[in-house]
Amino acid sequence: MSQSETPLTSRREFLKQGGQLAAVSALAGIALPHVHAAESHTIQVGLVGAGGRGTGAAADALSTANLGPIKLVAMADVFEDKLNRSYESLKKKCGDQFDVPPERKFLGFDGYKKVMDCLKPGDVVISATPLAFRGLHLEYAIQKGLHAFMEKPLTSDGPSTRKLFQLADEADKKKLKVGVGLMIRHCRGRQELYKRIKAGQIGEITMMRAYRMHPGVGTVFSKPKPADTAEVPFQIRHFHAFLWASGGLFSDFNIHQIDETCWMKNAWPVKAHGIGGRHYRGDCIDQNFDNYAVEYTFPDGTKLFFGSRCVQGAYSEFASFVHGTRGSAVVSTAAHTPGKVRIYRGHNMEKQKPIWAFPQPEKSPYPLEWQDLITAIRKNQPYNEVKRGAIASLVTSMGRMAAHTGQVITYEQMLNSDHEFAPNVDKLTMDGPAPVAPGADGKYPIPEPGIKKTREY
Ligand SMILES: NC(=O)c1ccc[n+]([C@@H]2O[C@H](COP(=O)([O-])OP(=O)(O)OC[C@H]3O[C@@H](n4cnc5c(N)ncnc54)[C@H](O)[C@@H]3O)[C@@H](O)[C@H]2O)c1
Repeated sequence: MSQSETPLTSRREFLKQGGQLAAVSALAGIALPHVHAAESHTIQVGLVGAGGRGTGAAADALSTANLGPIKLVAMADVFEDKLNRSYESLKKKCGDQFDVPPERKFLGFDGYKKVMDCLKPGDVVISATPLAFRGLHLEYAIQKGLHAFMEKPLTSDGPSTRKLFQLADEADKKKLKVGVGLMIRHCRGRQELYKRIKAGQIGEITMMRAYRMHPGVGTVFSKPKPADTAEVPFQIRHFHAFLWASGGLFSDFNIHQIDETCWMKNAWPVKAHGIGGRHYRGDCIDQNFDNYAVEYTFPDGTKLFFGSRCVQGAYSEFASFVHGTRGSAVVSTAAHTPGKVRIYRGHNMEKQKPIWAFPQPEKSPYPLEWQDLITAIRKNQPYNEVKRGAIASLVTSMGRMAAHTGQVITYEQMLNSDHEFAPNVDKLTMDGPAPVAPGADGKYPIPEPGIKKTREY
């Protein structure tokens, strides 16, 4: 099947399989305000979190002009340098679709409200800050009748996941469409692979494995805070270093592959146990381990073995595999895109030729996730990825917590855990207290498996 034959049909099929339509159809017949945009209407987009991904997501949003008029009208960030860099880059790239006068550039923790106050019901807000602010942003978006695009991950702990579940239902009640940046789900190759696996082309899945191993990237291995920098801005700028801000490298990096393998299995794991540790850390102050090995167990007993390592000079692999009774499949070959998905008759992928492979070159899923979201908005089709994105975030956190505590962690334990890393994120100020404080040595609390058994720090 060609790329052009698959897109929206498989997307709708997927939503049905995820049970999302059930919630929506329960609301059928209830009169709800119209928040969809017909094809001729201009959709306005607001960006909150104008960093690397936010800038990319805004450009991807505007790339849907083939579906109808769309423009960027407001932007917010907490750092002026980041806001200005993104502003200049999008202004240069997006031509007439860039409609952000200086008075619609907002700086500060309340910038998300100011951006959304510039939008009208049926417009779209992007939340591409670190994950700690997702609940806050989605809650306000729903209040304002806005559709949303939320970058992954959505949550890093049980309490914030429970809140996202509630918000998912509220978004459905208002018929709002919400996309979540697990863009692999929109990759046409992976969609085709999912169908083939479901049709039995590799038999029953017996085992899955995935690896995200490369040198440390982003802000995972942060050096001590300079004396003239306040805690909150330091922690936000170095969000990969802090569990409250990002779920750490385990959640921020690994969610994609954990989600894509769970998708292929068409199930979520019920428990995890794992190991991990820190090597050669010098004066790094982050809360991460640099290596993790997590075994996830699905309801039928099948395992996903996941390996994560950020170590300079060690072997790198960034790929996901599914093994079945009749063969095996590659879900990701090297990073996220191109996926180059393929199926083998046996398990010796290095020695065999695939019996099927998705035609190359394949399209990047980043613009495709926006084609799908904006199509749903313009056609007023059910589209809500929040619950699925929150579950993907939760099961990722379950693996992280298992490795950090040295305990077996179940889905229910993770979901019902009372440790909320950043309960007062709505009250943060640049010079106020941060969600985690350093010790006298300037280092932040790290997990101690077997010693700290019920909390990660
Ligand atoms: N889907 C993907 O493949 C992908 C790729 C990269 C990043 N991401 C996700 O996108 C998010 C951002 O990552 P990034 O790499 O762009 O980081 P980044 O640091 O480049 O961007 C984050 C931006 O958010 C801003 N910010 C932080 N808190 C804010 C707040 N309360 N209000 C407004 N702005 C705020 C920061 O100043 C920064 O400019 C993360 O959740 C990350 O996991 C997803």
